[in-house]
This record gives sequence, structure tokens and C-alpha cells, in this order.
Amino acid sequence: MIAAETNHWFDDRCARAFWDQRQALPYRELLRDTAAWLDPGPGETWLDLGCGGGQLSAQLWKQSEARLARIVAADCAAANADAIEKLRGKLDPPPGRDQLVFRQADFSDGLSYLATASFDGIVSGLALSYAESRDPVTGQYNDTAFNTLLGELSRVLKPEGRLVFSINVPEPNFWAIFWRSLRRGLHVAHAGRLLLNIWRMQRYGRWLKREARKGRFHFLPVEDLLSRLKTVGFEKLEWRLSYAKQAYIIRARKASVPLPGGPHMRKFSRWKLDAGESVPR
Ligand SMILES: C[S@@+](CC[C@H](N)C(=O)[O-])C[C@H]1O[C@@H](n2cnc3c(N)ncnc32)[C@H](O)[C@@H]1O
Repeated sequence: MIAAETNHWFDDRCARAFWDQRQALPYRELLRDTAAWLDPGPGETWLDLGCGGGQLSAQLWKQSEARLARIVAADCAAANADAIEKLRGKLDPPPGRDQLVFRQADFSDGLSYLATASFDGIVSGLALSYAESRDPVTGQYNDTAFNTLLGELSRVLKPEGRLVFSINVPEPNFWAIFWRSLRRGLHVAHAGRLLLNIWRMQRYGRWLKREARKGRFHFLPVEDLLSRLKTVGFEKLEWRLSYAKQAYIIRARKASVPLPGGPHMRKFSRWKLDAGESVPR
């Protein structure tokens, strides 16, 4: 059993276990589906939030044909700095030091290290759920950090900036991912290491589900996510299922006109969706 209260995302062993995710079939499906919704353009600046081993940063670089001005790859785990460095060497042509930049930061504290309206696009893979906060009086976990982070995504995007992210469905069935990954695990090089890391990911998955039930992490219904995004000034919301149906991919655009008083001035409420907004695929 792994310790519940510890945040294992800060632990390099956890970071390394998830680097192998890229080998797993459900993850490849997720990467393909996320990539299909990305449209990085020449000279643009993108943020890859909770970048892990940098699969989505790599995707941005390739899809822009190496013409992005800058990718900021941010994660709380120090080990991911090494992964991003390795990635730089693997990409062809390799991005320069100021074209792919790693930042170690905890997004539960917001994104104050990033300037307002500085990004054309943000991508985030299976990470945003992990913004955590507690009520200072009761000590109970709450969704303040999660809501603040959504507001921060809106703040750092330019008007009409694009947001594409994946996030686990409520009560994700990590066994579905485990079994589908296992099949491939038997056919790749380093199969032993891959199987071990798939097993480790499964253990972290149990921890994530337990903590989500306590309200620490946020595996929310898609309607809830879409309404929170609207609250902080996103529009043109679309979503689809991927990752062996264990994650949503959501695409949204920051409104061209800022909300009066800024995104945080609107109270979070469960808004009704407009017709046609949540179209499952
Ligand atoms: C499931 S992994 C996904 C990694 C990567 N986005 C991908 O698609 O391969 C979740 C990532 O979120 C990062 N993460 C979790 N909590 C975080 C936090 N509070 N601040 C910053 N990053 C965090 C983890 O370190 C991890 O790299």
C-alpha cells in the first residue's frame, strides 16, 4: 500500500513509472486523439502543463514543423527536467534552449510565474485533476485550487487562445487500461521494465481513485467540467472520450472579450449547457 497523504506526483519514482505510459496502447490512443485537436502555428507560444516525459511537447513541436517560438513544459516533478532534456536531443530538428523550456512548479499554487495573455495555446495530458487544496478551517480537501487553476489557464491565454486537455472520467477503470497495456507489454523491447512500470502505475491509480473520492483530486463528470470552463471565460467547448473510455479530451477557446472584472469575479455555479455543446464521439 502506498502512503495516502503523500503527493506521489512530486516523487521521481512516480514520474519515471509514468514515462513508460507512452508504450501502452490506451495512452497511444489518447495521444493520437489529443494531437488531432492541436493546431500549433508558426511563431506561437504554447504551454504543456503537467508535461511528464514531454510526449505532448514533442507532439506540438512535430505538428508545428519545428516552427513554434516557444514551448513551456511545466511539471512538479524534478525528474521530468531530465526527460525534457533527453527529448530535446531526440527531436529533429532539436528545439533550442529558449524554444523548449522546463519549469518545475506546483500548479496547485496557480500559475503566477507565467505572464497574463502570454500563450497562444495550452495543452495538458491527464494532469489538471491533481490541483489540490484544503479548507483552512476544517482541513477538508476542496476544489478551490482546481477552480483557481482553470481561471489561471484563462488568464495566461491570449484572447481566443486554445485549450486542449485530457482528464480522467469519474471512477476511472484503470484495470481496463492495465489489461490493454499488458497485451502490448509482451511485444516490445524492455518488456520486463514496461510490465513493472505498468504495475506501478496501477498502484498509483488505486491511490488516485481513493484520493479523488475524498475530494482531493478531481475526476468529474464532463458537464461539470464544461460549466466550470464557461465560468472562467472559455467558449466553443467540445469533448470526446478516449484512453479506453477512461478519459475525456476537452477543447475550448478563450473568449475574445474578457469577462467583466476578470474570470474570478464570476461565481462558480452549475450552469446549464447550451444545446449541442456536449457532443459525445
Ligand atoms: C498522468 S501524468 C501525465 C504526463 C503527461 N502530461 C503525459 O500526457 O504523458 C500526470 C502529470 O501531472 C503532473 N502533476 C501532478 N500534479 C501536479 C502539480 N500539482 N503541479 C504540476 N504538475 C503536476 C505529474 O507530475 C505528471 O507528470
